[in-house]
Amino acid sequence: MSDARPILLFDSGVGGLSVLAEVRQGLPNAPIVYVADNGGFPYGTKTEAEISARVPALLGRLAERYRPRLIIIACNTASTIALAGVRAALDLPIVGTVPAIKPAAEQSETRVIGVLGTNATVRQPYVDDLSAQFASDCLVLRHGSAALVELAEASLRGEPTPDSAYADALAGLLDQTGGDRMDIVVLACTHFPLVADRLAAVAPRPLTFVDGAKGIARRTATLTRDQQWPDTPAPGIAVFTATIDLSEGLRNALAGMGLTKIERL
Ligand code: DGL
Repeated sequence: MSDARPILLFDSGVGGLSVLAEVRQGLPNAPIVYVADNGGFPYGTKTEAEISARVPALLGRLAERYRPRLIIIACNTASTIALAGVRAALDLPIVGTVPAIKPAAEQSETRVIGVLGTNATVRQPYVDDLSAQFASDCLVLRHGSAALVELAEASLRGEPTPDSAYADALAGLLDQTGGDRMDIVVLACTHFPLVADRLAAVAPRPLTFVDGAKGIARRTATLTRDQQWPDTPAPGIAVFTATIDLSEGLRNALAGMGLTKIERL
């Protein structure tokens, strides 16, 4: 028997589309509700108290409206701050996004890894814990960039963005002590994989970029492995929490991810 309950992906903006791309690969017929909390964007410059209050409440409303089988918090900032709060509030499987420090430490040859996230993410004790647990023999450099989040949003809308802005974001890691030996950068914000090619293009030497999207897709497939899916993919829904002027570029990007219905919470 087919089961039409969707998977709900949640982010402050378009960053979660980098996670959706991987989820769709593994589960092509999964009905998708993608939520961009543009009313709360950006998260990375907010306080812990603001995120902890906003995200569980919003996801509660969304779960009531869309009745998902599983929620993916496709946002490092929301996950590192509010994952426990969301799990406590909702009786649903919740998959979070955490900085991919473990795979980075497994791959780094120089034992210097960079964590590029939002300002809010890079200061979280969650990052300290991951570093202590999986990268205790590495130097872990961190840099928070609100500018890179804006660049990813603009780039997805099809607007031109200058190379120098990407170089500045990377310099936040490279210019730190030990940055000259860094060989791997953890893209610890779901917006950043959307512009990984731009970062790679301005890097002064080859750097490896890692993110958590594939792991999230695998976890989602595992948690839903005994469930039924529709025989054909239903049109995906993009939900915005505030009025948005949908540019043609954004509309096309959403449609490219199967999100052809637009709704407002
Ligand atoms: N995409 C988000 C993340 O993974 C947050 C970006 C923002 O709103 O600042 O952290």
